[in-house]
Amino acid sequence: NEVSLGFTFSLPLALPKQVRFSVKSRVNRKLVVCTVESVGSIYQASDVRISKTSEWKALEQHAKNVISKTHLRDLLTDPERSEKLWAEFDGCILDYSRQRVLPETMKLLFDLANRAKLQEKKEAMFRGDKINITENRSVLHTALRAPKETQLFVDGVNIIESVWQVLEKIRSFSNRVRSGQHTGVTGRPIKNFIAIGIGGSYLGPEFLHEALRTERVASAAAGDRILRFLSNVDPVDVKRATDKLNPEETMAIVVSKTFTTRETNINAKTIKDWLIYHLGDSPETIKKHMVACSTNLDMVVKFGIDPENMFPFWDWVGGRYSVCSSVGALPISLQYGFDVFERFLQGAHSMDDHFRYAPLERNLPVLLGLLGVWNMSFLHYNARAIHPYSEALLRFPAHIQQLDMESNGKHVNIFGENVDYPVGEIDFGEPGTNGQHSFFQLLHMGQVVPCDFIGFMESQNPVCEEGEPVSNHDELMANFFAQPDALAFGKTAEEVEKEGNPKWLVPHMVFTGNRPSSCLLMPVLDAYVTGQLLALYEHRTAVQGFLWEINSFDQFGVELGKVLANKVRKQLNESRYFNKDISGFNPSTTRLLNRYLEGSVG
Ligand code: F6P
Repeated sequence: NEVSLGFTFSLPLALPKQVRFSVKSRVNRKLVVCTVESVGSIYQASDVRISKTSEWKALEQHAKNVISKTHLRDLLTDPERSEKLWAEFDGCILDYSRQRVLPETMKLLFDLANRAKLQEKKEAMFRGDKINITENRSVLHTALRAPKETQLFVDGVNIIESVWQVLEKIRSFSNRVRSGQHTGVTGRPIKNFIAIGIGGSYLGPEFLHEALRTERVASAAAGDRILRFLSNVDPVDVKRATDKLNPEETMAIVVSKTFTTRETNINAKTIKDWLIYHLGDSPETIKKHMVACSTNLDMVVKFGIDPENMFPFWDWVGGRYSVCSSVGALPISLQYGFDVFERFLQGAHSMDDHFRYAPLERNLPVLLGLLGVWNMSFLHYNARAIHPYSEALLRFPAHIQQLDMESNGKHVNIFGENVDYPVGEIDFGEPGTNGQHSFFQLLHMGQVVPCDFIGFMESQNPVCEEGEPVSNHDELMANFFAQPDALAFGKTAEEVEKEGNPKWLVPHMVFTGNRPSSCLLMPVLDAYVTGQLLALYEHRTAVQGFLWEINSFDQFGVELGKVLANKVRKQLNESRYFNKDISGFNPSTTRLLNRYLEGSVG
């Protein structure tokens, strides 16, 4: 008979390839001995580094000898190639025929993925191995959207059960607030929410809120509720967040994984004072008007928030991957109802399963990730732009910017050695068509920046004027289809001349073309599709990190500036209030600080 033993082993990462060891345990008072075989960790210190493999070298040669001699203008005349460079899953279409690749390039990229053990690394992530080695943590944002009935054990605990306990608590709390059962301290219903947090504790929920704000089901569920975000420690942001809100009807949600982030703590204290000033200094004021999403119960309690009003998450959820935890669940459920948030989770889970099980050739996040590696490490394009042709996705590029740049902005590999190949793109973007009237000049005529165009079959809010030849949505989408071709084909001097332009003007009007992009075409942007999109981009980042052999899940790069700010803060305080001279800073900073102190009141 098979017996399931609930053991979890922590093993060092750099294991020999095969290890056998025995486990002894007593089951029903009988001693059971079994042999466990490990296939070794996903990273072996003895492995050949990725950039030294024959697969990497083959791609370098291919870029130099084949791809550099091609132009998208010619490649796009081949219907067979176009058909091959296309993938679909659950309503999402990815057309990557405008990337500077041939089917042969993709084959070489799949070889590289296999060499980098992409499949094993993905699996290690999904099953909860501690792949964030520098912090000795699992990376399990996928568990946040796993169906209730599934099981996943981390350190002996079924974390799916824990996830759903918190989700159920959020469902019931948000129902109570939305139905008016939980009122403010003066008895008025709560209908305004201020989510206080920064970085990953802000950008994900804000992008999601914006994506849903004009969606039919979500906006009907929101009614006249208001959800605002307070992230910047700039006092102006406090003014914006509280402007015209009635404190009697307002609830603050403090979102901080660590509950030690200065900006968030200062803003939370400011809002606490604002509530106390207007509603009175009683424990009831805080109990009724302040809640928290965090992993740090002690600090939440110390701050004065009722532990009953704390919605936990776990150290295996990275900040920038936390939107599916209570970080997003609470504000979004309060504003739109839990059902809307649940649909979002379902969309993300659908993409998770696809990422986990679909073959590389048809796997959307894998394809996007491989193209990212190709563009960055082999074609040396070090930036990348995201253009959602949907105003509702206006904060999506900012979220992905943090997600990806905080993840893959690294200079050492997983073994602590310097990486000797380009990793980590600069991400930016704006919704179309607004971006076209801003930085697209550079994209068409300046540096080459690979682009993602994201469009939708249907608008969240279709407007079709009577007598107009196309609807507003078609007008938007006409640009979505036109821009990738304009980038790919460009315009030759001959074509410019043929248009009757004077000779001297011709060079100014030539478009070199051959500028790569991908097109993602999805159904209407609703909660489910937003979840799919989020997971697609989260996994793209992971794929790139896995191939580059870097740890995409720590973020030591944000620490140094924080430490220096502590020193400056102390100096400002001592100089302003105790007349101490500035000391211990370089001459440039000393001069700047002196001028600041002369010109400001603090
Ligand atoms: O700015 C870096 C960072 O550490 C992010 O990774 C994180 O999401 C953010 O700060 C906020 O941290 P916390 O949720 O702990 O307040």
